[in-house]
Amino acid sequence: MKPAQEKYIPFVPLKMERRAWPDKELKAPPIWCSVDLRDGNQALIDPMNVEEKLELFHTLVDIGVKEIEVGFPSASETEYEFIRTLIEGGHIPDDVTIQVLVQAREHLIRKTFEAIDGAKHVIFHFYNSTSTLQRKVVFHTDVAGVTKIAVDAAQLIRELSQPAIDAGMDLRYEYSPESFMGTEMDAAVEICQAVIEAIGATPDHKIILNLPTTVENCMPNYFADEIEYFISKLPSRECAIISLHPHNDRGEGVATAEMGLLAGAERVEATLFGNGERTGNVDMVTLALNLYTQGVDPKLDFSNINKIRDVYEKVTKMKIGERQPYVGELVFTAFSGSHQDAINKGTRYMEESGTEYWEVPYLPIDPADVGRQYEPIIRINSQSGKGGSAFVMQHSFGFDLPKAMHPEFGHIVQVETDRVGKELKPEAIYDLFKTHYIDATKPYEMVRHSFAEFTDEEGHSHVTFAGTLRHADTLFQVQGSGNGPIDAFFNAIHGQKMDRFTFIDYKEHAIKQGSDSQAVAYIHLQDEKGKDWFGVGMSHNINLAPLKGILSAINRAVNHDGL
Ligand code: KIV
Ligand code: ZN
Repeated sequence: MKPAQEKYIPFVPLKMERRAWPDKELKAPPIWCSVDLRDGNQALIDPMNVEEKLELFHTLVDIGVKEIEVGFPSASETEYEFIRTLIEGGHIPDDVTIQVLVQAREHLIRKTFEAIDGAKHVIFHFYNSTSTLQRKVVFHTDVAGVTKIAVDAAQLIRELSQPAIDAGMDLRYEYSPESFMGTEMDAAVEICQAVIEAIGATPDHKIILNLPTTVENCMPNYFADEIEYFISKLPSRECAIISLHPHNDRGEGVATAEMGLLAGAERVEATLFGNGERTGNVDMVTLALNLYTQGVDPKLDFSNINKIRDVYEKVTKMKIGERQPYVGELVFTAFSGSHQDAINKGTRYMEESGTEYWEVPYLPIDPADVGRQYEPIIRINSQSGKGGSAFVMQHSFGFDLPKAMHPEFGHIVQVETDRVGKELKPEAIYDLFKTHYIDATKPYEMVRHSFAEFTDEEGHSHVTFAGTLRHADTLFQVQGSGNGPIDAFFNAIHGQKMDRFTFIDYKEHAIKQGSDSQAVAYIHLQDEKGKDWFGVGMSHNINLAPLKGILSAINRAVNHDGL
């Protein structure tokens, strides 16, 4: 690459002695305007047809967007036809305003008025380029020249509006000094003030001044300075709603919008998932859900984000990346073991503490809030730790493994991920659990058994176990008593080869698989060398499950030690 300073002219930030925006907080959502059907559409390899546009329009309405830029009706027949279909087909709810875009050119303005005939609520959006670069290389004019283009358009629009207003249309205006970010701020103020006056905006009938980062060419803090400066210098500030229209060329569109709002803007034009020219427009979903996770209601509904994603992918033929915030396939997945442990602990903490707030590390949003499944939060690969496998067993299959067992099972899973060299799906993790624990029924196997139980006059219970066990091909009888089934069984196998194990702990719970409910018992034994062995038994009989668990632990040890 050529030395950067020999090729690129750096952005020159405004000189600001003081700035107020860094101390502000976002406490309310902006007015949202979707530009999916215009800016998003014009950036597609295959622009949407009328049916696709209609489907996306209805999706935006369902999300709760109240201002929707529906097209550039003077640009093509399809655009024109779509707007007529919306109006004549009665598709626009009464609380939704459609917005139409037009260049500041007479014949296009006239055509645009034809397109909106009969609509109830309309924002008439006109624009011309104002930046230093565009004036120099495209329009060969000065600030006075671009101001004249804007003012002439404003006067014509004002004049042509009257019949529509007289016919009952609620008509508002929007002006964009296109490429605002690269315009000298005093010039931007001068042009916008001239437009306010020419169009006759008042505090009761405000114009929307939309300040686009048509091409994002500076850091978001410099942009926020521009917005704060612009607002403070605009003589008729009270006659305008300040709107942002960030693109994402530096990958900072969301930050630009957020800081621009801190600096005093009140409205944002955005698209779903950031579709739009080049690197896209700012992503409405990320902006809204960023607010939501800070405790601010965005007044947009993304509770079924997968459905919105499906419509988006269908009509735009674009693909959403796996790491796209809030919606990407992998964004609710933790691969790292320490992250999985922390998520596991956070989920447990939430259950046990009954907290009303979302307090799970590594997940900035509850996946359920956007209609995502809980199960795939954790995926298991060779980077995963002990907690992750236990989490999958609990959340996907209902097995609540005792904590002491997590490292052992985690190790089993890790060996397998290393062996296969890829991520393990929950079903594969369950298979490992079943093979290693539940199916550890050889060489010791329970063939027959019976319990006798009585309670003495002091209320103590006494249990006698009698059973037939098989070791390889040999059957043998055992019998023992104790204060419960486990104690009785353990005493029964005393004196057999199995008595090198000490009973440490056990845990049992019911588990429902389909319509079938069973008891599952986790047994923790220790061998004579102090090594821990875990076993798992399942049975419809709650007394039998732990005994199967004991045999499972013993079998695992015996098979491992070759005894
Ligand atoms: O990016 C832009 O500047 C635009 C304008 C037409 C608003 O899309
Ligand atoms: Zn744009």
